[in-house]
Amino acid sequence: MQIHHDISGLRAALQGDAPVAFVPTMGNLHEGHLALVTQAREAVGPTGRIVASVFVNRLQFAPHEDFDRYPRTLQRDAELLAGVGCDLVFAPDEKTMYPEPQGYKVHPPTELADILEGHFRPGFFVGVCTVVHKLFNIVQPDVAVFGKKDYQQLMVLRRMVDQMALPIRILAGETRRSDTGLALSSRNGYLTDDEKQRALLLSQTLRGLLTAWRDGARDVARLEADAMQTMRDAGWLPDYMTLRRQHDLGAPQDGQPIVALGAAKLGQTRLIDNLEA
Ligand code: PAF
Repeated sequence: MQIHHDISGLRAALQGDAPVAFVPTMGNLHEGHLALVTQAREAVGPTGRIVASVFVNRLQFAPHEDFDRYPRTLQRDAELLAGVGCDLVFAPDEKTMYPEPQGYKVHPPTELADILEGHFRPGFFVGVCTVVHKLFNIVQPDVAVFGKKDYQQLMVLRRMVDQMALPIRILAGETRRSDTGLALSSRNGYLTDDEKQRALLLSQTLRGLLTAWRDGARDVARLEADAMQTMRDAGWLPDYMTLRRQHDLGAPQDGQPIVALGAAKLGQTRLIDNLEA
């Protein structure tokens, strides 16, 4: 497996006709990321090239967020990626990605990007779309794989690819969970052992929302308020606990696939999760 820190080296290594599948990450990898690499391999076959990027993108962090303490573990990440058959790692430093302040940015439409995560993390999706668009221009993949754990991010990026007519097939990877049901996330590393146990409440409460909907409850505002209260009672600070249509994250409707999404802070750590029905 090759590791490239600069754009020209990566581009030279990617010359040729072999299809390219791309897994963008911010590093500090876990099984969920590795499963995306395996999915990428399945998509392009043994002769395809798999590229994973490792870059902690300052643009998608607000000043009070965890950019500085986000774990940088490139050596371990590279070993894990090599172990699942990744061909190339692109690990640029900040000067390579942003040699000058990034004035040109990709602003996703507000109806999708200013709700939920975008509401509580203003500018987050501008940062994500800008870096992913730039990474797409650098890697020029045929296929890119993103995890469903970041459900809204996946949707925002799919729309970007559609509207910008980028010739890239987007694949969605299922969320990986620990044996106890905790969604794998690089930020789980911030949790104490006690918090790891308590963190299960997020997916359990989302499951409760889905079950209530499936059992016929239709007072969504009430269901959501109860779910928020459940989290608060257990010492969390929830941003949202909500039921939405899978299709566009609008209000849920009978007969349409539903997703329960939540974001909440436990101690110093903000976690997100979602469950589809
Ligand atoms: O999901 C992530 O890890 C990041 O948002 C991404 C897509 C790599 C962009 O920095």
